[in-house]
Amino acid sequence: MKLLATDVDNTLTGDRAAYLGLVALLSMHRDVTIAYVTGRDKIQMFEIMAAECLREPDYLLCNVGTEVYEGLDYRRDDAWTRHIDRQWDRLELHQALATIPHLFQQSRQFEFKQSYHLFRKADVVIPEIHKRLNEIGIEHKVVYSSGTDLDVIPKRAGKGEAVDYVRKRLRIRPRSVLAAGDSGNDIELLSAGFLAVVVGNHKSELNADALPDDVYWARENYAAGIIEGIKHFGFLKP
Ligand code: GLC
Ligand code: MG
Repeated sequence: MKLLATDVDNTLTGDRAAYLGLVALLSMHRDVTIAYVTGRDKIQMFEIMAAECLREPDYLLCNVGTEVYEGLDYRRDDAWTRHIDRQWDRLELHQALATIPHLFQQSRQFEFKQSYHLFRKADVVIPEIHKRLNEIGIEHKVVYSSGTDLDVIPKRAGKGEAVDYVRKRLRIRPRSVLAAGDSGNDIELLSAGFLAVVVGNHKSELNADALPDDVYWARENYAAGIIEGIKHFGFLKP
Protein backbone atom coordinates (compact mmCIF):
# COMPACT_ATOMS: atom_id res chain seq x y z
CA MET A 1 0.00 0.00 0.00
CA LYS A 2 1.13 3.54 -0.83
CA LEU A 3 -0.25 6.97 -0.06
CA LEU A 4 -0.32 9.93 -2.43
CA ALA A 5 -0.82 13.02 -0.26
CA THR A 6 -1.31 15.97 -2.53
CA ASP A 7 -2.19 19.61 -2.12
CA VAL A 8 -5.14 20.61 -4.32
CA ASP A 9 -5.04 24.24 -5.56
CA ASN A 10 -2.31 24.76 -8.15
CA THR A 11 -0.82 21.34 -7.49
CA LEU A 12 -3.53 18.85 -8.44
CA THR A 13 -5.52 21.52 -10.27
CA GLY A 14 -4.37 24.11 -12.81
CA ASP A 15 -3.90 21.92 -15.88
CA ARG A 16 -6.89 19.75 -16.69
CA ALA A 17 -5.13 17.56 -19.28
CA ALA A 18 -2.28 16.86 -16.86
CA TYR A 19 -4.76 16.04 -14.10
CA LEU A 20 -6.51 13.52 -16.36
CA GLY A 21 -3.12 12.01 -17.19
CA LEU A 22 -2.46 11.54 -13.48
CA VAL A 23 -5.87 9.92 -12.93
CA ALA A 24 -5.21 7.54 -15.84
CA LEU A 25 -1.82 6.62 -14.38
CA LEU A 26 -3.25 6.02 -10.90
CA SER A 27 -6.15 3.96 -12.23
CA MET A 28 -3.62 1.31 -13.19
CA HIS A 29 -2.33 1.18 -9.60
CA ARG A 30 -5.11 0.28 -7.20
CA ASP A 31 -2.75 0.00 -4.24
CA VAL A 32 -2.41 3.78 -3.96
CA THR A 33 -4.55 5.52 -1.33
CA ILE A 34 -5.27 9.16 -2.15
CA ALA A 35 -5.40 12.02 0.34
CA TYR A 36 -6.20 15.62 -0.61
CA VAL A 37 -4.36 17.90 1.80
CA THR A 38 -5.62 21.45 1.60
CA GLY A 39 -5.99 24.84 3.22
CA ARG A 40 -9.62 24.82 2.16
CA ASP A 41 -12.49 23.82 4.43
CA LYS A 42 -14.69 20.82 3.69
CA ILE A 43 -17.43 22.78 1.92
CA GLN A 44 -14.92 24.61 -0.29
CA MET A 45 -13.34 21.24 -1.03
CA PHE A 46 -16.66 19.83 -2.20
CA GLU A 47 -17.08 22.94 -4.35
CA ILE A 48 -13.75 22.51 -6.12
CA MET A 49 -14.22 18.75 -6.43
CA ALA A 50 -17.49 19.39 -8.23
CA ALA A 51 -16.23 22.31 -10.33
CA GLU A 52 -13.08 20.49 -11.45
CA CYS A 53 -14.67 17.01 -11.53
CA LEU A 54 -11.96 15.67 -9.23
CA ARG A 55 -12.09 12.04 -8.24
CA GLU A 56 -13.18 11.29 -4.69
CA PRO A 57 -10.19 10.83 -2.40
CA ASP A 58 -9.89 8.21 0.34
CA TYR A 59 -9.01 10.95 2.84
CA LEU A 60 -9.75 14.64 2.93
CA LEU A 61 -7.41 16.65 5.15
CA CYS A 62 -8.87 20.13 5.41
CA ASN A 63 -8.08 23.50 6.95
CA VAL A 64 -4.29 23.00 6.89
CA GLY A 65 -4.28 19.63 8.61
CA THR A 66 -6.64 20.55 11.41
CA GLU A 67 -9.46 18.30 10.17
CA VAL A 68 -9.24 14.72 8.93
CA TYR A 69 -12.15 13.14 7.04
CA GLU A 70 -12.19 9.53 5.97
CA GLY A 71 -14.13 7.28 3.65
CA LEU A 72 -16.84 7.91 1.14
CA ASP A 73 -19.12 9.51 3.73
CA TYR A 74 -16.30 11.81 4.89
CA ARG A 75 -16.67 11.10 8.58
CA ARG A 76 -14.67 13.48 10.74
CA ASP A 77 -11.95 11.76 12.71
CA ASP A 78 -12.66 12.95 16.24
CA ALA A 79 -9.56 11.26 17.64
CA TRP A 80 -7.51 13.71 15.53
CA THR A 81 -9.54 16.63 16.83
CA ARG A 82 -8.93 15.54 20.43
CA HIS A 83 -5.23 15.05 19.70
CA ILE A 84 -4.68 18.60 18.45
CA ASP A 85 -6.94 20.28 21.02
CA ARG A 86 -4.61 21.10 23.89
CA GLN A 87 -5.67 24.23 25.75
CA TRP A 88 -6.63 25.76 22.45
CA ASP A 89 -8.76 28.85 22.96
CA ARG A 90 -9.54 30.53 19.67
CA LEU A 91 -11.32 33.53 21.21
CA GLU A 92 -8.42 34.28 23.49
CA LEU A 93 -6.04 33.81 20.56
CA HIS A 94 -8.09 36.13 18.46
CA GLN A 95 -8.18 38.83 21.11
CA ALA A 96 -4.43 38.59 21.62
CA LEU A 97 -3.78 39.23 17.93
CA ALA A 98 -6.51 41.81 17.33
CA THR A 99 -4.30 44.86 17.73
CA ILE A 100 -1.39 43.75 15.54
CA PRO A 101 -0.99 46.17 12.63
CA HIS A 102 -1.17 44.79 9.04
CA LEU A 103 -2.99 41.63 10.17
CA PHE A 104 -6.52 41.42 8.76
CA GLN A 105 -8.98 38.69 9.66
CA GLN A 106 -10.15 36.41 6.86
CA SER A 107 -13.93 36.26 6.54
CA ARG A 108 -14.20 32.54 7.31
CA GLN A 109 -12.84 31.25 10.61
CA PHE A 110 -12.71 27.69 11.93
CA GLU A 111 -12.38 26.15 15.36
CA PHE A 112 -8.75 25.10 14.90
CA LYS A 113 -7.68 27.44 12.12
CA GLN A 114 -7.72 31.17 12.69
CA SER A 115 -6.83 32.89 9.46
CA TYR A 116 -5.68 36.33 8.45
CA HIS A 117 -4.43 38.24 5.46
CA LEU A 118 -0.95 39.69 5.73
CA PHE A 119 0.49 41.50 2.75
CA ARG A 120 3.51 43.23 4.24
CA LYS A 121 5.96 43.28 7.15
CA ALA A 122 5.75 39.53 7.70
CA ASP A 123 9.26 39.63 9.18
CA VAL A 124 7.96 41.82 12.02
CA VAL A 125 4.39 40.58 12.33
CA ILE A 126 5.09 36.83 12.58
CA PRO A 127 7.53 37.15 15.52
CA GLU A 128 4.98 39.43 17.23
CA ILE A 129 2.28 36.75 16.81
CA HIS A 130 4.55 34.14 18.41
CA LYS A 131 5.43 36.49 21.25
CA ARG A 132 1.82 37.30 22.11
CA LEU A 133 0.62 33.70 21.92
CA ASN A 134 3.55 32.41 23.96
CA GLU A 135 2.75 35.00 26.63
CA ILE A 136 -0.74 33.55 27.07
CA GLY A 137 0.46 29.96 26.76
CA ILE A 138 -1.24 29.01 23.48
CA GLU A 139 0.80 26.29 21.76
CA HIS A 140 0.54 27.14 18.11
CA LYS A 141 2.01 27.16 14.62
CA VAL A 142 1.97 30.00 12.11
CA VAL A 143 1.64 28.97 8.46
CA TYR A 144 2.27 31.73 5.90
CA SER A 145 1.48 31.22 2.22
CA SER A 146 1.74 33.12 -1.03
CA GLY A 147 2.62 36.40 0.68
CA THR A 148 -1.06 36.83 1.56
CA ASP A 149 -2.54 34.08 3.78
CA LEU A 150 -1.58 33.52 7.38
CA ASP A 151 -3.07 30.68 9.41
CA VAL A 152 -2.66 30.08 13.13
CA ILE A 153 -3.27 26.45 14.07
CA PRO A 154 -2.56 24.22 17.10
CA LYS A 155 1.03 23.07 17.49
CA ARG A 156 0.13 19.41 16.97
CA ALA A 157 -1.81 20.12 13.75
CA GLY A 158 -0.57 20.89 10.23
CA LYS A 159 -0.48 19.22 6.85
CA GLY A 160 2.62 17.14 7.63
CA GLU A 161 1.39 16.00 11.04
CA ALA A 162 -2.05 15.08 9.71
CA VAL A 163 -0.63 13.04 6.83
CA ASP A 164 1.71 11.28 9.25
CA TYR A 165 -1.31 10.42 11.41
CA VAL A 166 -3.06 8.87 8.39
CA ARG A 167 0.16 7.10 7.39
CA LYS A 168 0.42 5.45 10.81
CA ARG A 169 -3.21 4.37 10.64
CA LEU A 170 -2.48 2.75 7.26
CA ARG A 171 0.66 1.17 8.77
CA ILE A 172 2.96 2.19 5.95
CA ARG A 173 6.51 3.52 5.94
CA PRO A 174 7.21 7.25 5.47
CA ARG A 175 8.95 6.51 2.15
CA SER A 176 5.76 4.84 0.88
CA VAL A 177 4.15 8.27 0.97
CA LEU A 178 4.54 10.77 -1.88
CA ALA A 179 3.75 14.36 -0.90
CA ALA A 180 3.18 17.09 -3.50
CA GLY A 181 2.73 20.83 -3.10
CA ASP A 182 3.27 24.32 -4.44
CA SER A 183 3.05 26.91 -1.66
CA GLY A 184 3.88 27.90 1.92
CA ASN A 185 1.26 25.80 3.62
CA ASP A 186 2.87 22.74 1.99
CA ILE A 187 6.31 23.30 3.55
CA GLU A 188 5.59 21.09 6.55
CA LEU A 189 4.11 18.36 4.33
CA LEU A 190 7.15 18.44 2.06
CA SER A 191 9.56 18.35 5.03
CA ALA A 192 7.97 15.51 7.00
CA GLY A 193 10.27 12.72 5.79
CA PHE A 194 8.03 11.50 2.98
CA LEU A 195 9.04 11.35 -0.66
CA ALA A 196 8.30 14.90 -1.75
CA VAL A 197 7.82 16.72 -5.04
CA VAL A 198 7.45 20.46 -5.58
CA VAL A 199 5.59 21.26 -8.80
CA GLY A 200 7.27 23.58 -11.34
CA ASN A 201 4.73 26.38 -10.83
CA HIS A 202 5.54 26.69 -7.12
CA LYS A 203 5.45 29.96 -5.20
CA SER A 204 8.72 31.70 -4.38
CA GLU A 205 8.45 30.85 -0.66
CA LEU A 206 9.23 27.26 -1.61
CA ASN A 207 12.97 27.41 -2.15
CA ALA A 208 16.04 25.35 -1.33
CA ASP A 209 16.42 27.12 2.05
CA ALA A 210 12.88 26.25 3.14
CA LEU A 211 12.96 22.57 2.21
CA PRO A 212 15.12 19.45 2.77
CA ASP A 213 17.77 18.54 0.19
CA ASP A 214 16.05 15.37 -1.01
CA VAL A 215 12.89 17.13 -2.17
CA TYR A 216 12.41 16.70 -5.93
CA TRP A 217 11.92 19.93 -7.88
CA ALA A 218 9.79 19.05 -10.91
CA ARG A 219 10.21 20.99 -14.11
CA GLU A 220 6.63 20.36 -15.17
CA ASN A 221 3.74 22.35 -13.74
CA TYR A 222 0.65 21.30 -11.76
CA ALA A 223 -0.36 17.61 -12.04
CA ALA A 224 2.31 17.04 -14.69
CA GLY A 225 4.81 17.90 -11.94
CA ILE A 226 3.25 15.22 -9.71
CA ILE A 227 3.61 12.68 -12.54
CA GLU A 228 7.24 13.73 -12.97
CA GLY A 229 7.80 13.18 -9.22
CA ILE A 230 6.12 9.76 -9.36
CA LYS A 231 8.51 8.74 -12.14
CA HIS A 232 11.56 10.27 -10.47
CA PHE A 233 11.02 8.28 -7.27
CA GLY A 234 9.71 5.13 -9.00
CA PHE A 235 6.77 5.56 -6.64
CA LEU A 236 4.42 3.25 -8.51
CA LYS A 237 6.93 0.46 -9.03
CA PRO A 238 5.96 -2.68 -7.11
C1 GLC B 1 -6.92 28.42 1.67
C2 GLC B 1 -7.86 28.82 2.80
C3 GLC B 1 -7.33 30.02 3.55
C4 GLC B 1 -5.88 29.78 3.99
C5 GLC B 1 -5.04 29.42 2.78
C6 GLC B 1 -3.60 29.11 3.16
O1 GLC B 1 -6.95 29.38 0.67
O2 GLC B 1 -9.16 29.09 2.29
O3 GLC B 1 -8.12 30.24 4.70
O4 GLC B 1 -5.39 30.91 4.64
O5 GLC B 1 -5.59 28.28 2.15
O6 GLC B 1 -3.49 28.02 4.02
MG1 MG C 1 -1.63 24.95 -3.37
